[in-house]
Amino acid sequence: MPRSELASFTDLSPAEDDFLGDVIAGLSASPKSLPCKYFYDERGSKLFEQICALPEYYPTRTETLLMREKAPEMAAAVGADALILEYGCGSIEKVRVLLDALDQPASYVAVDISREHLRAAAEVLAGDYPSVDVHAICADFSQPFEISANLPGRRKMAFFPGSTIGNFEPSEAKAFLTLIADHVGVGGGLLIGADRKKDEAILHAAYNDRAGVTAAFNLNLLSRMKNELDAIVDIDGFAHDARYNAVDGRIEMYLVSQSDQSINVGGRKFSFAAGETIHTENSHKYEIEEFQALGRAAGFEPKTVWSDQDDLFSVHYFEKNAD
Ligand code: AVI
Repeated sequence: MPRSELASFTDLSPAEDDFLGDVIAGLSASPKSLPCKYFYDERGSKLFEQICALPEYYPTRTETLLMREKAPEMAAAVGADALILEYGCGSIEKVRVLLDALDQPASYVAVDISREHLRAAAEVLAGDYPSVDVHAICADFSQPFEISANLPGRRKMAFFPGSTIGNFEPSEAKAFLTLIADHVGVGGGLLIGADRKKDEAILHAAYNDRAGVTAAFNLNLLSRMKNELDAIVDIDGFAHDARYNAVDGRIEMYLVSQSDQSINVGGRKFSFAAGETIHTENSHKYEIEEFQALGRAAGFEPKTVWSDQDDLFSVHYFEKNAD
């Protein structure tokens, strides 16, 4: 794999997460909950990759096909000499189809929280795209951070694929899109994937897969508590469940206690009745118009939207309005 020097590496890595504090706060709450960000340790990230390849989990596959098919139209909307900003870029694979289609992209800024993984992935991209200025910023992208004003590129375009926006509460999603609007500035763009509302049976299957990978992903939260916090917890005493909440338009994931039992962690004992749940994730689904309204509320103007023939997934292109 060719690797090249990065044009810059900025380390804004946040303070370590307080896993124990968050677990105690979540299990003390009523109803009980745990933050979904703790899914993604090494094992959880591998399980998530497996989820993306499951036959029932349509979002990744559908978005990838859409990006491949529509990349020329997306590139035309963005125009020449662009600066692409990707939030939560992971292994920096998805942006390649866009970089390949764009007319002389000037720079690419990769933002991710995982420092070493980010550096390695960005160096590989720099090796593969020698004409593009590749920058990396290690940061928690959901928190405000600055982007240098002096990077090459005529127009800034944010890229946020994967429908991760669905894991934000709508108010947080609006705040995050407003931060993006500030980063790209007036006339800048946003290309973003959002999962659509659809037949509940399709959603139910996607989040309750037959191979049990999503269950393992969800239960990994309890394994992490056991391994990292010395929690006393019967992992087999909890079951995965994902339910569609039609009122709030979201899949909700839970760990359901299979009996009356308790979890001991951090010197505290948390009792569970049989059937009691720990709420672990929301995944919001948006009608096209609903998502456009969210973009508008953050100061963006909807320009184009692409969707697949089965109306499963959408990729939106917005531009930032004058204030
Ligand atoms: C990362 N995110 C978009 C996934 C989703 O579909 O909300 C996380 C996930 N949870 C269960 N399966 C996938």
